Amino acid sequence: MITDFIKYQAQTSPHPLGLEISHAKGSYIYDVENNAHLDFVAGVSATPLGHNHPKVIKAIKAQLDKYMHVMVYGEYAQKPAVELAKLLAKNLPKTLEQTYLTNSGTEAIEGALKLAKRATGRSEIISAKNAYHGNTMGAMSVMGYEERKQAFRPLLPNIKFIEFNNLEDLNQITSKTAGVILETIQGGAGFILPENNYLEAVRNRCNEVRTLLILDEIQPGFGRTGKLFGFEHYNCIPDILVTGKALGGGMPIGAFTAAKKLMSLLQDNPKLGHITTFGGHPVIAASALATLKEITGTALITETLEKEKLFRKLLIHPLIKEIRGKGLMLALIMKNADITNQLILKCKDQGLILFWLLFEPKAVRITPPLTISHQEIEKGCHTILSILNQIDT
Ligand SMILES: Cc1ncc(COP(=O)(O)O)c(C=O)c1O
Repeated sequence: MITDFIKYQAQTSPHPLGLEISHAKGSYIYDVENNAHLDFVAGVSATPLGHNHPKVIKAIKAQLDKYMHVMVYGEYAQKPAVELAKLLAKNLPKTLEQTYLTNSGTEAIEGALKLAKRATGRSEIISAKNAYHGNTMGAMSVMGYEERKQAFRPLLPNIKFIEFNNLEDLNQITSKTAGVILETIQGGAGFILPENNYLEAVRNRCNEVRTLLILDEIQPGFGRTGKLFGFEHYNCIPDILVTGKALGGGMPIGAFTAAKKLMSLLQDNPKLGHITTFGGHPVIAASALATLKEITGTALITETLEKEKLFRKLLIHPLIKEIRGKGLMLALIMKNADITNQLILKCKDQGLILFWLLFEPKAVRITPPLTISHQEIEKGCHTILSILNQIDT
């Protein structure tokens, strides 16, 4: 399979990890030789209930038996999408009342950026240095990492970048700004938390100049940080909330959520202001609904903080300089990038899945399923420590 994978499937890097997958269950992925790999990555935060959670599988199968795609987004009332949007509204502040479902995170970012422009009649967007919001042209335009986008210019005009956590930079947000887009916790940059009431200050500045605040919760959302949404930690409610990844429970999805009055602008002038064929797909929405019910109906979110404590207690080693992040969105910051690479690759050979972050070469991603058990955490941390003991620096 690996030969055909390299030969026929378009590649994104010269050296993909290339694990040949047979099946997956719970916190484990099994390769074609039936070796079990403990998953500390959760498909890059996209499988919050682990692999093939029985309630998610049941919901998907039940929906498959009823209907799959019947019509483009927004024309017919389809129960899984309606129930999902309703449950999201129930769990969000009352200003975040309507959701538009998309096929991926980057597409939800596109929708949010368009909505900010449409609502304000302004064109300038402010984003943050080292931000990652996706890979389509609009989302890439607000990516704060020049090296990865220069080959694709020209991108969207009128984008400015401020430094995350820098309060002085907030004066760059003015009455010309349509929207400010920020990750609640910067992911690709190295799991950087907002500090010193930063998000509250951003919110106040946006209010002053009547600019819309877009928060990208595609990574921290759905319980990973110990609250359902990351912004709940920071006393800052966005005008437009963007979600994805974990929302789908292992299926492809994205969403942007806003006030009904704001969202209604996409219906008119021009009508069909944002359209998609497959957004809100019933099978995917059924998976998302079952996932959200499980996350909000169990103790998984609060347990996340206990699990974080266990990781922090166990992962003490001279080669680990720092552990960044919150809940089960953790990054080990190693002494250098070479140690990071060795750790990830050697752990892979020992049956533990770790991964990189996009823009911080010293970081090792630890974002396991929220359902991971204490024993599994202990087992994986033991593997990390024993590999670190073998690394020559
Ligand atoms: C913070 C953030 N925003 C946007 C995206 C893009 O989402 P997708 O890959 O589903 O398009 C990602 C994906 O990694 C992300 O982490």
